[in-house]
Amino acid sequence: MIGIFDSGIGGLTVVRELLKHQPEAAFIYLGDTARTPYGNKSPETVVRYALEDAAFLVQHGATSIVIACNTASAVASDELRRAYPNLPIYEVITPAAQDALAVTHGRIGIIGTRATINSKAYENILKSSSSFVIRHSKFEIYTQACPLFVPLVEEGWLKDSETKRIVRYCLAPLRQAHVDTLILGCTHYPLLAPLIQRFMGKRVKVIDSARSVVTRLLAAGPLKTGEQLYYLTDLLAHSEDIARKWLGRSVHFERVKF
Ligand code: DGL
Repeated sequence: MIGIFDSGIGGLTVVRELLKHQPEAAFIYLGDTARTPYGNKSPETVVRYALEDAAFLVQHGATSIVIACNTASAVASDELRRAYPNLPIYEVITPAAQDALAVTHGRIGIIGTRATINSKAYENILKSSSSFVIRHSKFEIYTQACPLFVPLVEEGWLKDSETKRIVRYCLAPLRQAHVDTLILGCTHYPLLAPLIQRFMGKRVKVIDSARSVVTRLLAAGPLKTGEQLYYLTDLLAHSEDIARKWLGRSVHFERVKF
């Protein structure tokens, strides 16, 4: 069974991609809604939370882990791999960076939480990739932290006029920089993808880190079918509503404490 975790409901973008391809896949999802957002916390705190999230999933039968959170992927992947050396651990950053490199004409924008942007995880992976080095003179990277996007998504403010204004405000520098590819470096952001794509324009290729990681997960071999379990560390009245709309099926969240 796959264990999937995020700081909140953003990781459901990974679940949605997974269900598109494997509607019966067995998984356990944990959203740490009691402590979201992770993106404005220190790396030490995010590492501690990520280790606790993974421990919960493993105790409940996970045999592989998907870090459905860019922030935790950026700062806690190494610690998780050290803690679970025998478990396949999928982080979202390497696959999204690879997908961006495959389509870009040289101007890559990256948006994410403060912690993800400050970690330079995407930049390091992009710059160390051979296709980046070979075509180096043509490449430019532009980054932008968008700390307001996660609370908007957690609140379900996906189409409100305030959300549109914040999207425009945060993405203006990347639009002015004429990026041709934009990495959604936070698993919450695909819920805002229609607004983001509209503001950036059709010619900008939007890379969804949730889609990128699921492609790698599916390529690794057949997945077991079975139970699909959803846990949150805090239950908010509208979470099931957002999940139903996003996944196109009803979801029951169980509350856990740890
Ligand atoms: N969805 C997460 C990410 O991909 C977490 C954002 C947050 O909690 O700040 O970064």
